[in-house]
Amino acid sequence: MKKVLMVCLGNICRSPLAEGILKSKINTEAVFVDSAGTAAYHVGNLPDVRSIEIAKNYGIDITKQRARKFTEKDFDAFDVIYAMDDSNYNNIISLARNKADSQKVKLILNESNPDKNLSVPDPYYGGKSGFENVYKMLDEACSIVAGNLS
Ligand code: 4NP
Repeated sequence: MKKVLMVCLGNICRSPLAEGILKSKINTEAVFVDSAGTAAYHVGNLPDVRSIEIAKNYGIDITKQRARKFTEKDFDAFDVIYAMDDSNYNNIISLARNKADSQKVKLILNESNPDKNLSVPDPYYGGKSGFENVYKMLDEACSIVAGNLS
């Protein structure tokens, strides 16, 4: 079974959406998808209400998710680790124990915009339109990820 981890800062806004969107596009019996945050601020919490709402608008329920912190054990548990932005990417890489760990880490928007190293903007301090923008970016990237997995 292929295992994919989505990572952002708090694991309440972007990566829960990425997890929910990718799960909606793949066979969840063949691919395991999870998400985590590089910071512990929101551990145990539900996704942000704005992420829950936008996902619901697109028919995706992310309310079973609870925030957790990324740990170096995730390098063993997952085949691919998608960072939402370059800060998350650098934080994850700083925990890598070896080259094999580092090679698992990718920026998710490089799936939809190869080699551009774009970041999914942090929508936490903004309004609803930021979440709509994040959703569209992740939907596009996850369609490509799902296509490559099947
Ligand atoms: P996320 O968004 O990394 O997409 O979950 C954030 C959530 C919380 C905070 C920052 C970003 N925070 O500072 O609490």
